[in-house]
Amino acid sequence: MPNGITIRHAKPADVESFRALRLEALKNHPDAFGQAYADAAAKENEYWLNRLNINEVEDALFFAEKDSQLIGMTGIHRSMAVKAKHAAMIWGVYVKPEWRGNHISESLIQSCVEWAKTQGVVIVKLAVVTGNLSALRCYEKCGFKTYGTEPKAIFYDDVYYDEYLMALNT
Ligand SMILES: CC(C)(COP(=O)(O)OP(=O)(O)OC[C@H]1O[C@@H](n2cnc3c(N)ncnc32)[C@H](O)[C@@H]1OP(=O)(O)O)[C@@H](O)C(=O)NCCC(=O)NCCS
Repeated sequence: MPNGITIRHAKPADVESFRALRLEALKNHPDAFGQAYADAAAKENEYWLNRLNINEVEDALFFAEKDSQLIGMTGIHRSMAVKAKHAAMIWGVYVKPEWRGNHISESLIQSCVEWAKTQGVVIVKLAVVTGNLSALRCYEKCGFKTYGTEPKAIFYDDVYYDEYLMALNT
């Protein structure tokens, strides 16, 4: 990664920057994410504070930061159900366009995987639209393997998008 970029946990003071970054991702890449931009944009401040996920037991959220600006993000969530808490799901992988190609998303995902290990999580999963080659390449480099395909996972602008389901044993 270029000098001066740090990967760090989210904190409550990030709420405005987090909202802006997530809405930018949803607006500019509607075929890459399950959440609709309009739904997210209509949410109140409390929703964004909750999504910062700072309890660090069920969830973690990591940001890439440069000169006090958020330039990337990735979240991870696990259920606390007794039969499911061994697994976690990565969500919201995003790097601002001007910072792409620097392996920042790789570092964000590695931070999530490290966090998962500290929580006793043994498998980390994610889903990626089949045509999203840069994301797919990044996940493969992080060690994720495709174990299936979910047909018509996303419907946007009259088009259905399939997703590869990927997993990494920690
Ligand atoms: C997918 C995404 C997170 C990748 O972030 P990134 O930090 O640029 O990823 P990397 O730097 O690790 O690049 C991954 C691969 O994609 C390629 N790539 C992606 N964007 C690139 C760019 N702008 N310039 C050059 N190469 C690029 C690289 O070739 C790299 O593979 P390589 O190391 O073998 O050369 C980013 O492109 C993004 O935010 N996309 C929009 C949202 C999205 O699709 N999120 C994923 C949802 S599942």
